[in-house]
Amino acid sequence: VSRVIPVDTFDLVIFGGTGDLARRKIFPGLYRRFLAGQMPEGSRIIGAARADLTEAAFRATVREAIDEFVPEARKDAAVIDAFIGRIGYVSIDAKGTGGWPDLRAMMRENVVRAFYFSVAPVLFGDIAERLHEHGIADAWSRIVVEKPFGRDLASARALNETLAKHFTEAQIYRIDHYLGKETVQNLMAVRFANILFEPLWKAEYIDHVQITVAETVGVEGRGAYYDKSGAMRDMVQNHLMQLLCLIAMEPPYHFDPDAVRDEKLKVIRALDAVKPEDIVRGQYLAGGGQEGYVAHSENPASKTESYIALKVHISNWRWKGTPFYLRTGKRLRARASEIAITFKEPPHSIFDDAEGWRENVLVIRLQPNEGMNLMMMIKEPGPGGMRLMQVPLDMAFADALGADAEDIPDAYERLIMDVIRGNQTLFMRGDEVEAAWAWADPIIQGWEERGMKPQGYDPGSSGPEDALMLMHKDGRRWREIR
Ligand code: BG6
Repeated sequence: VSRVIPVDTFDLVIFGGTGDLARRKIFPGLYRRFLAGQMPEGSRIIGAARADLTEAAFRATVREAIDEFVPEARKDAAVIDAFIGRIGYVSIDAKGTGGWPDLRAMMRENVVRAFYFSVAPVLFGDIAERLHEHGIADAWSRIVVEKPFGRDLASARALNETLAKHFTEAQIYRIDHYLGKETVQNLMAVRFANILFEPLWKAEYIDHVQITVAETVGVEGRGAYYDKSGAMRDMVQNHLMQLLCLIAMEPPYHFDPDAVRDEKLKVIRALDAVKPEDIVRGQYLAGGGQEGYVAHSENPASKTESYIALKVHISNWRWKGTPFYLRTGKRLRARASEIAITFKEPPHSIFDDAEGWRENVLVIRLQPNEGMNLMMMIKEPGPGGMRLMQVPLDMAFADALGADAEDIPDAYERLIMDVIRGNQTLFMRGDEVEAAWAWADPIIQGWEERGMKPQGYDPGSSGPEDALMLMHKDGRRWREIR
């Protein structure tokens, strides 16, 4: 399955190298790229963090991360040793001068330099400035910036301005890890590499679209961050927005960074303001022996939402009149992310038996059990006249590709290598992030001004009751979360 695209030799510096994201995603991902043979001879990864660690001690932490987060079948002792041999460490003070000259001394000429900011956003500006001040970043260097990219339009703008002091837009890689998911990229392949769907891909033929990202985890341990964020900022403004854009955008003229991002931007700018009655917020209650949201939030009266459902309209020629229903939440019945496109009924039925009549639905399953399902009407087999039934045209990607789930690369693997290749297609441009905040801000302000509390929902359920009504009142219903 994996064809390896060659990249240039690189030095990748990971600020926040001892952090959780580095441990869970970045190092395991880099190891897998190394295993796949995509890390050229001489490339290095340098962890940078405040901790006063020796290189050996830092390498030991990376080894542990691989042990914990790489599946057994992908562990190869000799490869792990060779990978660990590529790792360096520098103890650094983001706000002061400590460590920066050491990092400067480690940099080499004629290799790609990339700097991954896997740190709290308050440090982005400091690190950018130090890199510049100490002559560590050059005009070809790239920086990778993790979420959250601001918490509203003003802070996102300020962040963009800060980074722009030292780096051009072409050097800045803003990560939304959803864009690194294989199945998310596949949305573009399905839409733009097949003639089949595109002619029907518009309000005239599509009744509505549902985008669901359901999780079973709660916010345990992340309460301090999450309580200031909530599902709207944590998931909708970024991840669900990206999914919506890929479904709704016009065909770009080429699969090229600015062509794709221009089209996404147009979608975001065409979004209508969301009416208060089209927003449902929820917060998970205690149950099944587990604590409720407020127990994780440090604030017993927290009004932060761990669930949100929205009805969204896009005001342009293609989508006028076709609602997009979005929902995401924690502690729900199942971990399930999917996009369902429900087509309109044929204009006239020639069959008397309308029983069992259903619309065509294209379901794109993002995770887990990645695949596609096209619900079709066919004749019920047998001599009993012309009776109709709905069957799925089912394609599980794992079956189709003969791959096991572990072969599907993690989002971070793909994205980090894109940084080294200098390909920004799957990264958010500054104007795109700002436009998404410009849309989200009034929604958030609306409920803050009205002091609205989220509705409680049981853990393991499919969310708050009011979310059902959001669709019922339009004569539609959510697909089951499973
Ligand atoms: C992160 C959010 O960006 O995405 C988390 O901060 C969320 O709250 C996570 O759990 C979901 O990502 P994935 O890849 O597990 O769907």
